Amino acid sequence: MCSAGKRRVPAGGFGKGMTEYTEACRLSELRDGELKKVPVRGREILLARWGDQVYATDVLCPHLQADLSEGTLQGHILTCPMHGSRFDLRDGHVVRWTDLSGTILKYASRAIPPRPLPCYPVRVDGDRVLVGIPGV
Ligand code: FES
Repeated sequence: MCSAGKRRVPAGGFGKGMTEYTEACRLSELRDGELKKVPVRGREILLARWGDQVYATDVLCPHLQADLSEGTLQGHILTCPMHGSRFDLRDGHVVRWTDLSGTILKYASRAIPPRPLPCYPVRVDGDRVLVGIPGV
């Protein structure tokens, strides 16, 4: 478990719509290739590390809410463990919507259209991993 700190770093000040960076984890506590759930400002965030890159996303898959911390990471592509949807962690866009194909995918996508995975900006400051959460 990461030892998330309480220190917050404002990015461009505070106010409506501003992104506030909060320490979510120590980089040394996040192994290469690891997916880890951490609490950040009252919500659960998924951190994914691949080499020197760290990504932050929602924990739940936008398809049917599977726990993405049980998925697989390959570079910047995260694959959902339940139906195989793939998301690009650089911006959350859908690379593949489920592992269905053909007519079944067509009808399944009508029922639940493809939705991007919400992603959050990450800054690494020394050993601190900071996640940017938009202000309200
Ligand atoms: S719940 Fe993730 S692909 Fe279905």
